[in-house]
Amino acid sequence: MINDKRIIYSGMQATGTLTLGNYLGALKNWVTLSSEYECIYGVMDLHSLTVRQVPAKFRKSARSIYALYVAAGLDPEKNCIYYQSHVSGHAELSWILGCFTYMGELNRMTQFKDKSAKHADNINAGLYTYPVLMAADILLYQADLVPIGVDQKQHLEITRDIAQRFNAIYGDVFTVPEAYVPKTGAKIMSLQDPMKKMSKSDENVNATILLLDSKDDILRKFKRAVTDSDSAVRYAEEKPGISNLMGIYSCVTGKSFEEIEKEFDGRGYGDFKAAVGEAVADALAPLKARYQELMADKAYLDSMIKMNDEKAQYYASKTLRKVQKKVGLTERIR
Ligand code: TYM
Repeated sequence: MINDKRIIYSGMQATGTLTLGNYLGALKNWVTLSSEYECIYGVMDLHSLTVRQVPAKFRKSARSIYALYVAAGLDPEKNCIYYQSHVSGHAELSWILGCFTYMGELNRMTQFKDKSAKHADNINAGLYTYPVLMAADILLYQADLVPIGVDQKQHLEITRDIAQRFNAIYGDVFTVPEAYVPKTGAKIMSLQDPMKKMSKSDENVNATILLLDSKDDILRKFKRAVTDSDSAVRYAEEKPGISNLMGIYSCVTGKSFEEIEKEFDGRGYGDFKAAVGEAVADALAPLKARYQELMADKAYLDSMIKMNDEKAQYYASKTLRKVQKKVGLTERIR
């Protein structure tokens, strides 16, 4: 608890830019939940080092993602939005928790398997211990709730296991967090291959909607989205392309699948794809405008970054000191 409120913690990798999947699966829900909870959101730059980065480009992406969090509606004066690498406690706790994590557990992580296949020339130890750092992120802030998309659920489960194992030995040190996975939007699929998750690293530019895409690009990408040969706008497992578009439309308009089916009854896919494109472009327009303003106001963003770094550092050091003491590390002489 901070200020008598339960704590939310989440974050996104600091590379590239954000996708509609990141937005509907996570960011949009962060904004919705932010009034009820004390919220802490990291720009996860340490996690991004598991893949080689071009330093100058990487720094720019990290700042852009910080601005996108704020542009999406997170008030940095109320929510603690900070860079993971600015709080050294993440790496310190990660080491300690690594000593409470079994290789068998890490071997089971599906994201490690997927990423090793994708980066076969650079299967580094960081990629392997990635979930331990993520557990450290969450446990450092004693989070109650972690809003994420489906692909991060396994990492949340291992976080819970590590926390419970540690608590069983040392008493109630960590809050055991719960995942918050939205009913719709938790797994937005590629527009070019609806069996694959929408991802910022997809080589096919038409597969992914980026939050900063122009309206024309958004409309064009939806127009080209892969669907099936049928023409009925109906939600069904055997129609993954159209079901994905219905999920997106439902998330941005708040309409149920039944309402959408009624709205497009007797109208073809062309009409529906155009409507989804328009709805997404409209939903993202204010975010894009706010983003441009924020990126132009260096002093404001810098002051928010500085203030929140200090706040995050304060919360993190409280947990870290407690953990260090519990495991028997020698206390510092002050
Ligand atoms: P990342 O950067 O891959 O994704 C950030 C968030 O966006 C969600 N997401 C999606 N949701 C729906 N459909 C999609 N196509 C889609 N793509 C991404 C993810 O589920 C995630 O919630 N390891 C994390 C970052 C992280 C983190 C943390 C998250 C590091 N430490 C602590 C929560 C708590 C990651 O790589 O997310």
